[in-house]
Amino acid sequence: MLKKIAAFFCLAGCFQVAFAAEFPSLYYQPISAFEELDEEEFFYRQSCDERDFDYRASESDQLEAYNHILQMQQDGFFDADHHLVSRSLNNPYISDDIWQHVTPYLIPDDHPAKEALDKIFSSSRALRSVKAMRQAGFSNPVPGYKGMIVTKHKSIPGYLIKAYLDTTNIPEWLALTHRAIGARYIQNTIDKFGYQGIMKVPKKWIYPLPAEPSPPQEEGYFRKNFVLVVENMKILSFADNEAAYKRLITKKILEALYTVLREDKLVDSVYIDNIPFSRDGKIAFVDTEHFNTTTKPLHLEHLARCFSKSMRAYWLQLCSNGIQNEGK
Ligand SMILES: Nc1ncnc2c1ncn2[C@@H]1O[C@H](COP(=O)(O)OP(=O)(O)O)[C@@H](O)[C@H]1O
Ligand SMILES: [Mg+2]
Repeated sequence: MLKKIAAFFCLAGCFQVAFAAEFPSLYYQPISAFEELDEEEFFYRQSCDERDFDYRASESDQLEAYNHILQMQQDGFFDADHHLVSRSLNNPYISDDIWQHVTPYLIPDDHPAKEALDKIFSSSRALRSVKAMRQAGFSNPVPGYKGMIVTKHKSIPGYLIKAYLDTTNIPEWLALTHRAIGARYIQNTIDKFGYQGIMKVPKKWIYPLPAEPSPPQEEGYFRKNFVLVVENMKILSFADNEAAYKRLITKKILEALYTVLREDKLVDSVYIDNIPFSRDGKIAFVDTEHFNTTTKPLHLEHLARCFSKSMRAYWLQLCSNGIQNEGK
């Protein structure tokens, strides 16, 4: 009997593999067999990544971010349903100029996370240190490369917070606004090409901190006035994401990836930890720091090793010849 059961599952497994190869789009369903990324694994990227560590955004990155912001303002690239956000916080540490830059991306007053955020950030100076963040209820608030913390809080379900500590000397309003714009920019492209069934981008909002409590007025502290609130994309763990890139990729997905990466010049999205699969089977552009980048090359070929043999061949073909029916 046991042998029969084993044979049944073995056969079912073979069918599944064959079926997936033949009809990848039908197989392209929520990935319930995979584990959701557990909070301790947010930082898996650091252990698997050969890129340079740099706790400060380079001057050129900052300049690029600033130019993008100005460009977006000129292009009127702001949310149509842009709400009037109350500035009741009246934070004297935020200049009019910075308010003007961040306003289009401020979290709406009626956002589900807003009340909890107000409570958390007015109760203690959470950004003072890793310890203070932990005490404020954030889980595993460890700075990643460039000093950014990606963390969860149990009273803000469904969202993550991206933040810099007061001890990190970085213009956070610029870094966060740039990511918020990047998210809208990539979403625009996905919508333009109709790839919503294949890929997605987390919504990103800027949350302005209350002026008080303040960080210590000591050397080594650089007051932060904003954090970024992002939708939790419920991405797969590192290993499951690697497996998903080997198993779930189809020509259609490769063409979509190729198109979006090129269209938006996403130079840092050629690493699968920045474009992980989420549980619903879509690829999530979680890292929106670099977009429309003209100062660094787009190394599409980096992705090749993440795919199965046949998909790798198709990817390399795309990299050298583009999509063949393009323009037809
Ligand atoms: N919206 C999100 N949903 C789920 N996980 C996320 C999200 N944003 C970031 N992460 C996790 O945090 C990691 C670091 O975030 P990322 O935006 O890539 O920052 P960095 O600039 O440090 O690379 C990601 O690789 C991913 O594991
Ligand atoms: Mg990243």
